[in-house]
Amino acid sequence: MEATQKKIVDALNRQLNKEFYSAYAYLATASYFEEQELGGFANFFRIQAKEELTHAMKIFEFIHRIGGTVVLAPIAAPKAVYKSPLDAFEQGLQNERALAGEINDLLTLATEEGHGAARVFMFWFVNEQVEEEALFTRCIRRMALVGKDGQGILLLDKEFAERTPEGEKKSA
Ligand SMILES: [Fe+2]
Ligand SMILES: [Fe+2]
Repeated sequence: MEATQKKIVDALNRQLNKEFYSAYAYLATASYFEEQELGGFANFFRIQAKEELTHAMKIFEFIHRIGGTVVLAPIAAPKAVYKSPLDAFEQGLQNERALAGEINDLLTLATEEGHGAARVFMFWFVNEQVEEEALFTRCIRRMALVGKDGQGILLLDKEFAERTPEGEKKSA
C-alpha cells in the first residue's frame, strides 16, 4: 500500500507540474497575440491559462486529500515561438494531446495499482481532455478556413473576445 501511495502521489505531482506548465505556455501565447493587437485571441488564451490553473489546483487538493505531500518542482519555460496565429493554436492542440496521453497513463497506473480513489479522480480529467482537444480542433479548422485573410482574422478575434471562463467553450 505504501509503495502504491508513493507511485500515485509522485505521478500526481508530475501532472501538477505539467498543468502549471500548460498555464505558462498559454500565457505565452496570450502575450504573442497581445503584441499583435489581437485582443480576442489573447483573451481566449488567458482563459485557457486560467483553466490550466484550475486543473493544477484540483490535483493540488486531491494530493492533500489522500494524505500525500505536494512537491512544487520548477516550472519549465515555454518555447513561445509561433510562426503564425494558426501555428499558435496547433501548438496548443499538441500540448493538449500530450496532456491527454499523460492523463491516460495516470489512469492506467491508478488502475494497475488498484488505487480506486485516484482512478475515479482521473475520470474527470479524461473527459476534460476530450473537450480541450475538441475545442482546439474546432479553432484550428476555423482558422484554416480564414487563412491569411485579415478581415476573417478580425472577425474571429471578435468571437474569441467573447469567450468567458468556464462553460462557454462552445462559443469560442
Ligand atoms: Fe489541463
Ligand atoms: Fe488543457
